[in-house]
Amino acid sequence: MAYETIIVEIDDHVATITLNRPDALNALNSHLLQELAQALGELDSNDKVRCIIVTGSAKAFAAGADIKEMSEKSFVDMYLGDFFEPATEAVTRVRKPIIAAVAGYALGGGCELAMMCDFIIAAENAKFGQPEINLGVIAGIGGTQRLTRYVGKSKSMDMHLTGRFMDAEEAERAGLVSRIVPAKQLMDETKKAAEKIAEKSMLASIAAKQAVNRSYETTLTEGLLFERRLFHSLFATEDQKEGMAAFQEKRTAQFRDR
Ligand code: HXC
Repeated sequence: MAYETIIVEIDDHVATITLNRPDALNALNSHLLQELAQALGELDSNDKVRCIIVTGSAKAFAAGADIKEMSEKSFVDMYLGDFFEPATEAVTRVRKPIIAAVAGYALGGGCELAMMCDFIIAAENAKFGQPEINLGVIAGIGGTQRLTRYVGKSKSMDMHLTGRFMDAEEAERAGLVSRIVPAKQLMDETKKAAEKIAEKSMLASIAAKQAVNRSYETTLTEGLLFERRLFHSLFATEDQKEGMAAFQEKRTAQFRDR
């Protein structure tokens, strides 16, 4: 499938979606969001793909929603159009693991998109921010909710109210990113992580993702119950037998998603 604002590549079991509006620092316009939603849906149902990477350029993961496209819109346009919703839904509906590989700016909707992925690997030059306040608006696709859950109220308020940027080190300290890598190695390191994930049983990967995500949605007691039920259910799989046999036989497990 040919896209105009993103590039989709599949290498072995890992798919990479590269946001590709370099002249606008990958600002998220409605065309890009629609293509991103479509690509994610296709990759999620492609049996060959076992892990997805979303990335941008060396200068910008994405500098936010497209301000030029938004600037003349009215309340009614935004309310009825709700044009960010399908993409947001599409990202969070994906069952396979998604890694955001972030170099440069991840601002506004760009930061929010990275946070919708399952985890973030940052290049040393990554900069995160929710600077919507400078435009007279606020985050609109999850920033106030997700950033707060990632980094806590104080830092989230600071980011949303001052509009300041957070560098990669601060983001790692605060728990927004899982690791920092040298900028030149961002894609190699992210692909290595994706390949590691791709080797696992997809049944266990999906269960792990669902269980971690459930911790955002429910009480500890309900979350623990949900986890335990998934844990028990994995004992109905051939992959559990294979994984535990391989450990005892001191060999690498060959998972078959069965
Ligand atoms: C449209 C953008 C853009 C954006 C950058 N550009 N960000 N266009 N929407 N969000 C364009 C610039 O207009 C410029 O195009 C080109 O990209 C290069 O940007 P420069 O500003 O010249 O680059 P630089 O000086 O290096 O500054 C980089 C930057 C700055 C700090 C990232 O561009 C910036 O502050 N961008 C806006 C960040 C922001 O406010 N994001 C939040 C958006 S609101 P031209 O044609 O002039 O060369 C949002 C809401 C989310 O995300 C909620 C969704 C519902």
